[in-house]
Amino acid sequence: MNSKRKTIIAGNWKMNKTCKEAEALLGEVLPKASDAACEVVVCTPYVDLPVACRVAEGSKVKVGAQNLHFKASGAYTGEISAAMLQELGVSYVIIGHSERREYFAETDATVSLKIGAALEAGLVPILCVGESLEQREQGIMSEHIRTQIKIDLANVSAADMGKVVVAYEPIWAIGTGKTATSAQAQEVCKLIRDTLAELFGADTAESVSILYGGSMNAKNAAELLSQPDIDGGLIGGASLKADDFGQIIAAAK
Ligand code: PGA
Repeated sequence: MNSKRKTIIAGNWKMNKTCKEAEALLGEVLPKASDAACEVVVCTPYVDLPVACRVAEGSKVKVGAQNLHFKASGAYTGEISAAMLQELGVSYVIIGHSERREYFAETDATVSLKIGAALEAGLVPILCVGESLEQREQGIMSEHIRTQIKIDLANVSAADMGKVVVAYEPIWAIGTGKTATSAQAQEVCKLIRDTLAELFGADTAESVSILYGGSMNAKNAAELLSQPDIDGGLIGGASLKADDFGQIIAAAK
């Protein structure tokens, strides 16, 4: 963490929690976030967003979505636009999560369009990048991450880049209980920052919050967050347990 940048602890609930369950979980999370030294975000399923925005109103917790469609409106059955999220009071949106890339055929090209749509609506995009185990073993991790960053952010200006959050999520660490070591996570977060510096200038790169995601939990959070280029976490499994999520928030001092 670095005092110049915003520290962000964001929960990614994925496809978990009905509206009633979401209301109960958020009710447990709010008191744990009340004196947080960091920004706290919960990214819920679409249908839970209205209740989450209502419950979180006036608290320190911001609400995020897990996806959006890049078009403003139209014949896109089953999709949700940035304006629909913005009107609800949603502040953040996860874009390009590896599960969306893997199971829903999301590409760097659509991710890039989605980043543009989020920024236009005043939502903070949390852009996810990360390598598979195979790519790491083949020695093409750096090229892969740099390519993702370059294409996904191709249409973003330096001024707008200050509003984007990047999450490094090694695919082999997501939901597997296998966390990247703090050195591995730092190495790639630094690579991301260096790539941002090439594209947007050093000052902008220094201002971007870069999160780590992949089995971050109450036990390993403090160590990961102590790294100079890791400015927070994107947390899946552990964000579904208020106590664990609360301990991660507390570790982000
Ligand atoms: P995990 O998920 O913490 O359950 O590994 C992280 C994510 O996919 O954002």
